[in-house]
Amino acid sequence: MTVEVDVRSGLPVFTIVGLPDAAVREARERVRAAVLNSGLEFPMRRLTANLAPADIRKAGPGFDLALAVALLGSSGQLPGVDLDEWAFCGELALEGYLRPVRGIVAMAAGARRSGRRRIVVPTENAAEAAVIEGIEVYGLHRLRDIGALLAGELGVSPAVPAVPAQVDRSYGPDLAEVRGQEDARRALELAAAGGHNLLMFGPPGSGKTMLARRLPGILPPPSLEEALEITRIHSVAGKSDGTLARRRPFRAPHHTVSASGLIGGGSTPRPGEVTLAHRGVLFCDELAEFSRPSIEALRQPLEDKRVEIVRGQQSLTFPASVMFVAASNPCPCGRSLAKCECTETDVRRYQRRLSGPLLDRLDLVCQVQPPSDAPGEGGESSEVVAARVAAAREWQTQRLSGSAAMCNADMDVRETRRHAALDPAAARRLAEAVVAGAISERGHDRVLRVARTIADLDGRDAICDEDVDEALAYRILPPSMAVAA
Ligand SMILES: Nc1ncnc2c1ncn2[C@@H]1O[C@H](COP(=O)(O)OP(=O)(O)O)[C@@H](O)[C@H]1O
Ligand SMILES: [Mg+2]
Repeated sequence: MTVEVDVRSGLPVFTIVGLPDAAVREARERVRAAVLNSGLEFPMRRLTANLAPADIRKAGPGFDLALAVALLGSSGQLPGVDLDEWAFCGELALEGYLRPVRGIVAMAAGARRSGRRRIVVPTENAAEAAVIEGIEVYGLHRLRDIGALLAGELGVSPAVPAVPAQVDRSYGPDLAEVRGQEDARRALELAAAGGHNLLMFGPPGSGKTMLARRLPGILPPPSLEEALEITRIHSVAGKSDGTLARRRPFRAPHHTVSASGLIGGGSTPRPGEVTLAHRGVLFCDELAEFSRPSIEALRQPLEDKRVEIVRGQQSLTFPASVMFVAASNPCPCGRSLAKCECTETDVRRYQRRLSGPLLDRLDLVCQVQPPSDAPGEGGESSEVVAARVAAAREWQTQRLSGSAAMCNADMDVRETRRHAALDPAAARRLAEAVVAGAISERGHDRVLRVARTIADLDGRDAICDEDVDEALAYRILPPSMAVAA
């Protein structure tokens, strides 16, 4: 994105072309006031600012500073400065101060891509922008100092990235607090180890929400590359605290969320929950309560790991590589089994809401036992489980180096066949399950990927019969849902 200003003699007008939205038009007023209040000259000539490329909609007040600088440059107020080396981003207050803007990390990344070597941003944004390597970031507090800054006379050095010295080791709520529920804990560990999608199914109060919330504590921290992706997204959404993300996001939208809230959209397209959860967890608690359109909308992003939003002539892609985790009660009344008054028809209708669109996309379906059946013992701590998960992920990283896949769940058909090869007997058993209608063709490959993860957690290269059996067990569904899977 570039800003050019043309200064000519003629009646004093200031026009901005290049599809500006309301905020950019207001920028005209802010720039004029800020320039004047900074003791600089606002040329009383014909000014035309061109925001290029013209076919991209410009939104937000972040262009103020670039407009002001282009105007000062083209009216000879920044002599001897090679503006092509610099990028500018920031909102101007009428009095001439810079205000922080959203999406600064994405702006800095874009400036570097287009070959700029330095970027000037509002002081409050500087540490955040500096997480992008390969471009020098300078914080500026007031517009009147821009000339001195660009001439190197202000004596400020490039901003230092806001990276915490230590990886975040605070695990949040701990798995040790979960009593019993061995099967569900195992499913959670498998999901974390292979990046698999997971549905937990069980009566109210059995600990489904409790278990899901402990998932971030056993996931490996993001790699630097992933951390940059996470930070960039949250920065665009105005949800970054300015430091490089050291944890994977965990998003748990309420079931009343709209389809566009989930996958993104709006007249100025904004990322939805599935994008805010990129490289982390999207947790849909009480999945059956989500609207049909919302659940439907999730299908494509879960499959493609990205969201495509079409608005007019513009098509935008947001990344959406998430672990999808869902929980559901078996029936609509939300009471324990003993007190449930739902009819069989109610239950079937409720469960069918989940089955069609999503079930075939889930690697692991886990039935959580009623709370009364769960023995009263606490289990392993998150730290112990996290260590096993990290080791299993390490194997996957090595095996999948050079592939787009980051973990077993990401493997495509070819990679699955290659890395999750079965001996003839196990292969035959799995094929029989397909023929018997217990799993679908799609389900067949999901079983293979889960079996791969089971072997990885056990530190084995070869997948054995028991791995396949266990993986198959996570596809056994309540009778009313089995048809669809
Ligand atoms: N297995 C368990 N171990 C320890 N506490 C549990 C367990 N299951 C449920 N609880 C307690 O019951 C509360 C409700 O559990 P919750 O996770 O909300 O159940 P669900 O989501 O399945 O309805 C939890 O906050 C926790 O205090
Ligand atoms: Mg719950």
